[in-house]
Amino acid sequence: MKILVINGPNINMLGIREPGIYGNQNYQTLLDNIKQWAEELNCQAECFQSNHEGSIVDKIQEAYDNFDGIVINPAAYTHTSVAILDALKSVGIPAVEVHISDVTKREDFRQISYAGMACEEHIIGKGLDGYRLAIQYLCDKYM
Ligand code: DQA
Repeated sequence: MKILVINGPNINMLGIREPGIYGNQNYQTLLDNIKQWAEELNCQAECFQSNHEGSIVDKIQEAYDNFDGIVINPAAYTHTSVAILDALKSVGIPAVEVHISDVTKREDFRQISYAGMACEEHIIGKGLDGYRLAIQYLCDKYM
């Protein structure tokens, strides 16, 4: 099974950005962890990060016919991007939404998730381990 892990803006700033909210581990650690978790689950994971909404839409479109599952943390675009929602719906690839922080306990503007409307599972507030749980969910269901 091939899984595409997409991260939106500022996820590459992990370890630097608001450590009280997002923790002390950096983005490279997240990449290393994802590689290891995928190996343990006998699947392949490719990671992609962008600060640009259109690049994320392009990547989702390119995933069509090339990936069996998507794990996505659209970051701030979660709460604004109908384009990412439509892209996920367009390709119809099983998708899981991840948020490192517990967005349900944060500001009002974080309470809507457009991308989440196209995701069949939502893993919220579990830190970096949320990505492992998302990969595991897809492997358990589709492998
Ligand atoms: C986030 C939560 C979003 O509200 C925020 O804009 C992010 C990260 C998370 O992983 O907790 O950049 O998606």
